[in-house]
Amino acid sequence: MPAIALHPLTIRICHWLNAIAVFLMVTSGWRIYNASPIFNFTFPKAMTIGGWLGGGILWHFAAMWLFGINALIYIGVNLYSGRLRHKFFPIRPQQLWADINDALHLKLQHTDLSHYNAVQKCAYLSVMVAIAIAIGSGLVIWNSSQFPLLRELMGGFDNARIVHFFAMVFMVGFVLIHLVMVALVPVTLKSMGFSRPRLFKSVSLKSKSLEV
Ligand code: HEM
Repeated sequence: MPAIALHPLTIRICHWLNAIAVFLMVTSGWRIYNASPIFNFTFPKAMTIGGWLGGGILWHFAAMWLFGINALIYIGVNLYSGRLRHKFFPIRPQQLWADINDALHLKLQHTDLSHYNAVQKCAYLSVMVAIAIAIGSGLVIWNSSQFPLLRELMGGFDNARIVHFFAMVFMVGFVLIHLVMVALVPVTLKSMGFSRPRLFKSVSLKSKSLEV
């Protein structure tokens, strides 16, 4: 069996740059939130970066470029290559239901690493949408007068802050579950890594289109 890479190099690079960007965005975002909380709590200072409001904003705006440009490259490559369609679709409701059931009973299989199961497809697509919403609402909070249409879509400036907050909650929740799933099937980490493709010689591959 030929040695192949399960994920194209661009996708792997984007994935890890995104992980760094999300970490920086979330921890600096918590620092900014603490200066003017929307809800009745703040985040522990030790879990934030920037030291103070100004520092948090500087980190947030610096990481924003990495986060936004990397997201555009990831989605562009996926759309242009047709990978988005063949890797994340179709999602059949019966399959999704069966996979959710298996996942709840800790029986969900991920033996063929060349395919995502229906739960993974849904989770990955949802976090892509959450990232788009985080970026859209972030733009409104940053400069609401320049993005009137987005502002209306978000329900106004004040609402955009709430939308931004819950996009963050979704992303953090996704990452926590994502890390548990990776820990349960640690070989997937190698597929997203940069070691030599020979690691995957033993993996059964059913899809020709993945021979990239
Ligand atoms: C240290 C943190 C992270 C680790 C260890 C990790 C690990 C992985 C691994 C191993 C896969 C491949 C799963 C498989 O082949 O079955 C994967 C895919 C993915 N991860 Fe992560 N991840 C991390 C952070 C993140 C973050 C922060 C996000 C987004 C908020 C994210 C979103 C995704 C997405 C969308 C995919 C599918 C990528 C594709 O095939 O295009 N990950 N991750």
